[in-house]
Amino acid sequence: MTLSPDPGADIIIFGGAGDLSFRKLLPALYMAHLHGRLGASTRIVAVGRQTWSQQQYLQFIGERSPEFIEPSAFEAGPWRGFLERLQYLSIDLADAAAYGALRALDLSNPSRIYYLATAPGLFATISGHLGAAGLVDERSRIVLEKPLGTDLASAQVINAAVARHFREDQIYRIDHYLGKETVQNLMVLRFGNAIFEPLWRAPYIRSVQISVAETVGVGSRAGFYDGAGALRDMVQNHLLQLLCIVAMEPPISLRADDVRDEKLKVLRSLRPMSAADVRRDTVRGQYAPGLDPAIRGYLQESGVGPRSRTETFVALRAQIDNARWAHVPFFLRTGKRLARRQSQIIIEWSELPFSIFGEGTAQQPNRLIITLQPEESIQLGLMAKEPGSGMSLQPVRLELDLQSSSDKRRAEAYERLLVDVMKGRLTHFMRRDELEAAWRWVDPILAGWRDDFPQPYPAGSWGPAASSALLARENLKWFEESL
Ligand code: BG6
Repeated sequence: MTLSPDPGADIIIFGGAGDLSFRKLLPALYMAHLHGRLGASTRIVAVGRQTWSQQQYLQFIGERSPEFIEPSAFEAGPWRGFLERLQYLSIDLADAAAYGALRALDLSNPSRIYYLATAPGLFATISGHLGAAGLVDERSRIVLEKPLGTDLASAQVINAAVARHFREDQIYRIDHYLGKETVQNLMVLRFGNAIFEPLWRAPYIRSVQISVAETVGVGSRAGFYDGAGALRDMVQNHLLQLLCIVAMEPPISLRADDVRDEKLKVLRSLRPMSAADVRRDTVRGQYAPGLDPAIRGYLQESGVGPRSRTETFVALRAQIDNARWAHVPFFLRTGKRLARRQSQIIIEWSELPFSIFGEGTAQQPNRLIITLQPEESIQLGLMAKEPGSGMSLQPVRLELDLQSSSDKRRAEAYERLLVDVMKGRLTHFMRRDELEAAWRWVDPILAGWRDDFPQPYPAGSWGPAASSALLARENLKWFEESL
């Protein structure tokens, strides 16, 4: 990745005083500023509803954002320089006339980036008003945060509304998992090495697990989360994107549409779930109080109604109906208030058809364990000889510690993706048809759950017991249960 600064951009963040802005976007832009990745003329306009003065906004950001910047990277001088790029503009987003204030700013950088970090219900309104105010031209790009819609129909409405003013190659649908170093590395692992490709398919692979476990609860986000739930918040986007990268065919190049064509094929090959499949192949949970009395259950969280049926945990079995993956189960799992913060992709190979080491020899299947967080590593589980006389076997791991494999700074996902937007690189963003294909697969699951109650699980556990049972019926286990 080159470190040249962008030639200059006007970055207009709608929702500029919101959570995402002060936790992720401004810290990411600060890091880009610190490392010379922002052009000298690049400026940031934060648009918000609050009728604050510039001074009040800077004070707000000064109090909130620094704690989300790695302490060793926070320096008073560069931070002051960064704040000089920042301008606050109070606009009622629903008022078309108010957008004139943006025109008055005389935004003259070579590119203009509208970042919609608002509720998706506002995406159509904002893009419509930008278009009507004559603020969209060749230089413009628009970044849409997830979740884009709440189902296929609402996503289609938003996509159609935005498409009236922006061409598809001006639209950046962000999924920050695609900006994670290890996720991008997965493409290199798969397509930059000769040894995996022949074995990366049925029948050699027995199962794939994609698990994104969080220890945090819903926190202060109940307003959004209670209307969404884990399926919309995590599975529809992050987990399905990971699944695409694991499962896709080699693209013919790294150009955006070549990669996105292959991801789309995977999404289209996902076997649609019938109501019976949803009952059999999905588990829906909600955290209840756990052993630690300081941790509340979901229903006791502030902003959550006492009878909320929102799921905070999902485990499911997906099937990709194509030649590479026929009969290989893909198990996806995500949840809040789980036992550990850990995101992993586990590729498990089938057992040897015959063992010369005799019956009863404990033999583990070979596994590729790709850990995305908290640390980043890739491990390959093999069998080796136990030292000593005899031929006993023991499991060992070849381990690649990605953090220490290079001195180069590893940018956070948002920084990397924001720089991609500035440079006009679309590869790590979702195309419209991809996003809609993901919703098309998710919709029947939402429908199948309509009258269901999620199963409670104790905070700090690995989710409802049914989650283990989902794998046990195929003689499989979640990775942490198999150790
Ligand atoms: C966000 C979800 O997209 O991803 C959050 O809205 C979730 O609910 C977060 O906590 C997880 O991101 P990360 O990078 O911390 O794994």
